[in-house]
Amino acid sequence: MEASALILAAGAGTRMKSSKPKVAHQILGKPLVRWVVDAVHEAGIKSVVTVVGHQRDQVIPLVEDTQVVVQEEQLGTAHAVKIARDALAGDPGSIVVLTGDSPLIRPETIQELADLQQKNGAAVVVLTMEVEDPTGYGRILRDEEGNVCAIVEHKDCTLEQLAIKECNSGFYCFGRDFLFEALEKVSTENAQGEYYLTDVLALAYEAGEPVIGLVTDDPNECLGVNSRKQLAEAGACLQQRINDLHMENGVTIMDPRTTWIGPDVSIEADTEVLPMTFMLGATKVGSDCVVGPNSRLVDTVVGNGCTLEETIALESQIDNDVSCGPRAYLRPGTHMCDGSKAGTHVEIKKSTIGKDSKVPHLSYIGDATLGVDVNIGAGSITCNYDGENKWPTIIGDRAFIGSDTMMVAPVTLGENCLIGAGSVITKDVSAGSLGLGRARQTEIAGWNEKKSKKDSE
Ligand code: UD1
Ligand code: CA
Repeated sequence: MEASALILAAGAGTRMKSSKPKVAHQILGKPLVRWVVDAVHEAGIKSVVTVVGHQRDQVIPLVEDTQVVVQEEQLGTAHAVKIARDALAGDPGSIVVLTGDSPLIRPETIQELADLQQKNGAAVVVLTMEVEDPTGYGRILRDEEGNVCAIVEHKDCTLEQLAIKECNSGFYCFGRDFLFEALEKVSTENAQGEYYLTDVLALAYEAGEPVIGLVTDDPNECLGVNSRKQLAEAGACLQQRINDLHMENGVTIMDPRTTWIGPDVSIEADTEVLPMTFMLGATKVGSDCVVGPNSRLVDTVVGNGCTLEETIALESQIDNDVSCGPRAYLRPGTHMCDGSKAGTHVEIKKSTIGKDSKVPHLSYIGDATLGVDVNIGAGSITCNYDGENKWPTIIGDRAFIGSDTMMVAPVTLGENCLIGAGSVITKDVSAGSLGLGRARQTEIAGWNEKKSKKDSE
């Protein structure tokens, strides 16, 4: 699109009461300012400038793919735009201005603002919203013909103006030449002693330049995050927007209110998501899976036909027809091959569980490679750490590991081997052999009777 974008993200965000800059706070794993940058990119705008200031060391890494301008002192939104003038030089004639704390803005709306500005040769198009509680927002003033003639900040409103429900969203598209000319005339004569960008609208109106107010049909889209309460509200809106999209695409979500799916997650049709489930980061889930209840997948790729019940999976790969949980914990580097299982209270780290292999109950498998059709008995553990180093365990195809086996790594158990329950295995076991590493059972006949006699003497 032939427009450039300017994102304002220099403010302190004091109302968050945080040691972290406001725009770095996250919704569904994504920082507020990142939602805005991504929407701008999706709208097809290539030239993007971000104004940073307060705690910029933490903000700059979040907007690295934009051109960064530093506002040393936060003297107001008009000042923030003014100092970006050089960064925007040579760019197209339309400049979309957005606030970095409004994560719900949609790419289509950004396009609409720019289209309207360009088609009408407007000095400014402002996105406005009708809200029940306009507290804190700038109010839109319209003349007798209904044209936008000014914006008055909440703190500068007369009693009469406070009753106005139409508010400034903080999203605009300006004609570039007009904008920078008008900014020279903005003063700090207002309740907050700041340079208000919103003053540019009255300047345009007075100069007889066209000013357009575009009323949004979704006020949620303009929700600005100034407090923790608004952070939660914006989070709930984005949660719903994302869940709705997945449901439209054929995913069943039993309880959307307790299902949190990140913006970059993909889920194929006929997968069912049960309550209290989180899918975040670069997670991908195939079709015909049941995920949840009470599951969390982060940066995990899942194939088709899997059941993941009460499962936490981090940076893992889960192929097709895999069953996990209840209460499985797959840590980074886990690869569950087709038809494999990680059952109840099972923890797996950096290991491959081969095709159709099962780790059904109460086990820890770390730094291990299992072949196909391996069975790990309940309560078995790879002792992969000697206090200094991690060591590998290799288990061949069709090996049968008896319950409560300790596999002291590094160790290799050959194909088709059998390990007796309760063994501590410290040496390799060759293919097809029985490995036993436990004390032999002994029996003392009549022991109880002899003991009773002795006690009564
Ligand atoms: C602003 C608008 C208000 C609108 C509201 C919508 C002004 C004067 N007011 O008010 O009309 O209803 O947004 O959410 O513009 N910032 C800077 N540098 C500064 C000051 C602010 O970069 O010197 C950034 C902030 O980080 C923030 C954005 O600009 O991302 C808006 O500033 P904020 O202080 O939140 O303005 P509001 O009071 O919300
Ligand atoms: Ca704000």
